[in-house]
Amino acid sequence: MELTDRKEINGSVYYKICTTRELENSGKFEFEINFEKVVLIREKGKLYCFSRICPHMRRESMQKGLVRGNYIICPLHGHSFNLETGIPADRSKSTKDLKKFDVLETDDAIYVKEPEEERPAWADNW
Ligand code: FES
Repeated sequence: MELTDRKEINGSVYYKICTTRELENSGKFEFEINFEKVVLIREKGKLYCFSRICPHMRRESMQKGLVRGNYIICPLHGHSFNLETGIPADRSKSTKDLKKFDVLETDDAIYVKEPEEERPAWADNW
């Protein structure tokens, strides 16, 4: 899915990911933005958007994670990350944070802020 519907909000570029109804129907929405594999979920009415790549072993697994309280748990080895901050519950097990993305909802659509990072080095050969 190519993200083409963009909007400037508060001086930043946001891309339309899906409509509110599409997220309600599917429960989660997977997409890519700037070569990042990302998942969007709504939990207890709040939107969360984060990388599908688990920081523990760089596996694409977080879209299958279980939400428990304020944490999402990777199904592969059970490491958990705070949904708000991406910070691991146990720093001794995972030193890196789960990458988060800014998300907002307006006019029955959900938008994700364009990441500010440069294109990742591995993407140079694409
Ligand atoms: S890859 Fe997620 S906990 Fe190991």
